[in-house]
This record gives sequence, structure tokens and C-alpha cells, in this order.
Amino acid sequence: MKRAMNFSLQSVHRVFFLAILLSTHEAAMHAEEDDTKRPLPDLYPYVASDILEWCKPETGVWVDLGAGSGGVALAVASAENDAASQSTIVLLDPDVNAITEALRKGREKGLGNRLVAVVGVAEKMPLPDNSVDLVFSRGSIFFWENQVKGIREIYRVLRPGGQAMIGGGRGSKYPEWARREFTRRRQGNRKKDSPQAKEFARLRDPETFRQWAGDAGITDFQVVGQGALPADDPRAGAGIWLRFSKREAK
Ligand SMILES: C[S@@+](CC[C@H](N)C(=O)[O-])C[C@H]1O[C@@H](n2cnc3c(N)ncnc32)[C@H](O)[C@@H]1O
Repeated sequence: MKRAMNFSLQSVHRVFFLAILLSTHEAAMHAEEDDTKRPLPDLYPYVASDILEWCKPETGVWVDLGAGSGGVALAVASAENDAASQSTIVLLDPDVNAITEALRKGREKGLGNRLVAVVGVAEKMPLPDNSVDLVFSRGSIFFWENQVKGIREIYRVLRPGGQAMIGGGRGSKYPEWARREFTRRRQGNRKKDSPQAKEFARLRDPETFRQWAGDAGITDFQVVGQGALPADDPRAGAGIWLRFSKREAK
């Protein structure tokens, strides 16, 4: 009798264990399946957090270069950070409709009195020399007609000690599943060896960034991130960024 009871208890345990194993496996399968349909988290707060953490900028006039419809600028302006909450942010972009939309969204969020919209290009910024404390720019440099000229311009408008962070990416702390999924969706229809894919990778290559900075005469700079990597490469997280600050006057 005792043996029979032991036996049936063991069977119950086995069935129970198997059920847990199956449901865990199923949950994992679903999670993976669902990632391809799940909406991706907003990347801008993650990018803003890297800009503020890496540059530790001082309060002042900050420029979002190639601001588009203001994703990064608005995330920076509304970040919980003393300098960010007291700075004026210039949205600079050749696309007047995009920055008008950025201003509209900014006003809706109550940030209107700290945002200024300027129509212009990186290669010829309508800003005075030594007038800006921070220039940040995400996803724009790849579209500039002349990156070297743009970087020289950034150096010109920065005040001594001012900082720049230029490049692209989703923020180093963007969740791993979303990073993988973002890259997978973007790479979706593009053939790996197509001329477009090669150009995409070349523009995001750390070596290309070093070349641009060197040609612009920046001697002290840092390139962070590895650029365009396959979706499953964990090093893809940081994107690619050029960072430098303008030398203080002696
Ligand atoms: C992919 S969007 C990125 C927008 C925004 N920074 C973001 O992260 O969502 C690229 C932006 O760069 C702008 N752009 C293109 N050429 C430019 C140039 N020469 N100087 C400055 N911005 C430029 C485009 O108008 C566009 O708004």
C-alpha cells in the first residue's frame, strides 16, 4: 500500500515537473514569437540618458543638430537632470516641417519656453563662434553632404570646454530584446552584401568616424561603439558616437 502511494506520489511529481518544464518552454517560445510583433520601447530617453551621463554638460545653450521632429531634444529637455531642466535647446535642421512639429510637441509638454527652432545645416550653422555649451546629434551625420565640414562647424560654434556627441544608436541601456528586434526589423529586407548595406555599414564604421574627426582637425576625440553590427551581436548596443570637447583657451 505504502509502495503504491509512493509510486503515485512520484508520478504526480513527475507530471507536475513536466508540466512546469513545458509551460516554461512554451512561455519562452511565445516571448520570442511575440518580440517580432511587440511595439518597441521609445529609444529617445535611453539616448538622452547616455548624452547626459557621458557628457555631464553644464547648463547653457545646447543644440540638437539634425533634430528632426525632436525625439532626442524633447527627451533631453524633460530628463530628470538639473542642467537639462535649465538649458535652452536649439533644434537645428534643414527640414522646417520636422522642427515645427518638434516645437509643437515641445509646447504640448510644457517645454516651449526652452526650445528654439533654427532652419539650417550642419555644414553652415547660423550660430556665432563659441556660443554653444553642448551639441548632440543622433542619426543625422549619415545624411550630411559633408561630414568633415559639419564637424569643423560644431567645433567653431562650441565655446571652449563645450562638448559634442555626434552619431547614432538606441542608447547603451536600451533593452537587449528590443535592440535585437530593432536591428532585425531594420535589416529585414536589406540584402547583406547589397551596395546599400555596404554603404550603411561604411558610414557607421568607427574608422570612418575617426577619419572624419581627423580630417576636421580634431586631435582629441573618442569614438564609442562599434557601428552597424548584425542583430545578434551584443556589441551593437552602443551604436556609434564621436565625442570631443573644445580645448579651453590658455
Ligand atoms: C534620421 S533623422 C534623425 C532625426 C532625429 N535626430 C532623431 O534621432 O529622431 C535625420 C535628420 O537629419 C537631418 N539632416 C539631413 N541633412 C542634414 C544636414 N546637412 N545638417 C543637419 N541636419 C541634416 C534631416 O532633415 C533629418 O531630420
